[in-house]
Amino acid sequence: MTAVITKQKRDPKRAGTKKKPAKKQGRPKENAKSKLYASLVVQLLSLLKGEHDLVANAANFSALLFNSLPNVSWAGFYFLRGEELVLGPFQGNPACVRIPMGSGVCGVAAEQCETIIVPNVHEFPGHIACDIASNSEIVVPLFDGERLLGVLDLDSQLLGRFDDQDAEGLNELVTVFVGHEEGLINDHG
Ligand code: SME
Repeated sequence: MTAVITKQKRDPKRAGTKKKPAKKQGRPKENAKSKLYASLVVQLLSLLKGEHDLVANAANFSALLFNSLPNVSWAGFYFLRGEELVLGPFQGNPACVRIPMGSGVCGVAAEQCETIIVPNVHEFPGHIACDIASNSEIVVPLFDGERLLGVLDLDSQLLGRFDDQDAEGLNELVTVFVGHEEGLINDHG
């Protein structure tokens, strides 16, 4: 597999979501994936309803992703603290706590304000191997308007696990999450 690194430029109006025309025929798996992400939006809204504790909500969000998305070995947050990303709520094996801006997949996604899909982490220069079994990764930046809050990071033991539909679905979920937490993330920063 080639070292394809897919980046999705952030559209401020859509918080990074890259909308592609839907292809309705001959792509049953993608349709199933779209339905899964639509269902996750409903479940996330239900989990967030009436609760405004950032840590609790981020913890439940990561648990929802970890337990609902197939072949995901790690799902969680790094929040921007000064000039570095600091580990937040997650599901999976213990991970590195601090990631400088520009380092690893997370630091590059944060610095470039782009969603990054890495089909093969072993071919990504500077990849930080928290879990040696991880083979692919997707990192989605979190924004409050134009302000970077941190990143959502997902790992998989499968090569090429994440695609544009995952990027789109995760960006939509992150937009729901940040919209709900608006104003609170400042208090924790
Ligand atoms: N692989 C990430 C580090 C975080 S772990 O995957 C949880 C990176 O390269 O930034």
